[in-house]
Amino acid sequence: MPLSVKHLLGIKELNVNDIEQIFQTADNFKQVLQRPIKKVPTLRDTTVANIFFENSTRTRLSFELAEKRLGADVVNFSASGSSVSKGETLIDTVNNILAMKVDMVVMRHSASGAPWFLANHIDASIVNAGDGTNEHPTQALLDAYSMREKLGNLKGKRITIIGDIMHSRVALSNIFCLNKLGAEVTVSGPPTLIPKHIESLGVKVEYDVKKALQKCDVANVLRIQLERQHKPLFSTLREYALYFGVNKAMLDSLQRDIIIMHPGPINRGVEINSDVADSKSSIILDQVENGVAIRMAVIYLLSGKREME
Ligand code: CP
Repeated sequence: MPLSVKHLLGIKELNVNDIEQIFQTADNFKQVLQRPIKKVPTLRDTTVANIFFENSTRTRLSFELAEKRLGADVVNFSASGSSVSKGETLIDTVNNILAMKVDMVVMRHSASGAPWFLANHIDASIVNAGDGTNEHPTQALLDAYSMREKLGNLKGKRITIIGDIMHSRVALSNIFCLNKLGAEVTVSGPPTLIPKHIESLGVKVEYDVKKALQKCDVANVLRIQLERQHKPLFSTLREYALYFGVNKAMLDSLQRDIIIMHPGPINRGVEINSDVADSKSSIILDQVENGVAIRMAVIYLLSGKREME
């Protein structure tokens, strides 16, 4: 079954069948990634451009590995050191890359909506690798896939997203994805970092992180995004860590196991302590591992190829 979309711009545009299709395809690619030769030649006639206008470690490397493990040719573009600094527009930049016979574009951009804008101006399929404070769809897919691996069907499972909800594209994509899969989502953190009326997205709000942890099966802890905060929204990082950081004492007080997640990069000692990030409850590195299989699935399904090989 093909996906119902030509591009992966956001989770908002996907239906439940699309998400299940991506998960089932990722299951197959996860098996490929366990083999001694972790590659299939499915996309050997396809060229993918990864164009990153914003910093990235995990997402950029994960997409590049996913594309190479599907046999695609890959070109990488970073805005720093490019002709963007000479005033070239986004559309001109991408059209010049496409003129070199590129079939698919994976893009990260600091402007919310940039992938939608591009989709209206070019023919190639676009995968959103994170746009401003809007969406990060492959992160939400790999997060939900990692939860499903531990908990099975997510219907009725209680997921708490903790931290800087206001500036987080991971939070919004997770909310859309988890709602579609029937999970119960709560957001938690300081009132200044939780958007007003967020309940209209179908989530609960619990400002007390300890109480939020008591009621959840999974805590997805998010980074404080200082680079997007143009005025102070809490007094100091130390105070944030004291009142909203997740630490081992909090987990011990629950007297039951919950799953700890974080999309990275981690600010150790701020939103999460090392004794939680590195604990047996943490599946942070499983998330990173699953990211490659999820991105292989997304690229494969959008390519329209029918043979996995
Ligand atoms: N999770 C995530 O998007 O990490 P990077 O910014 O390193 O890609």
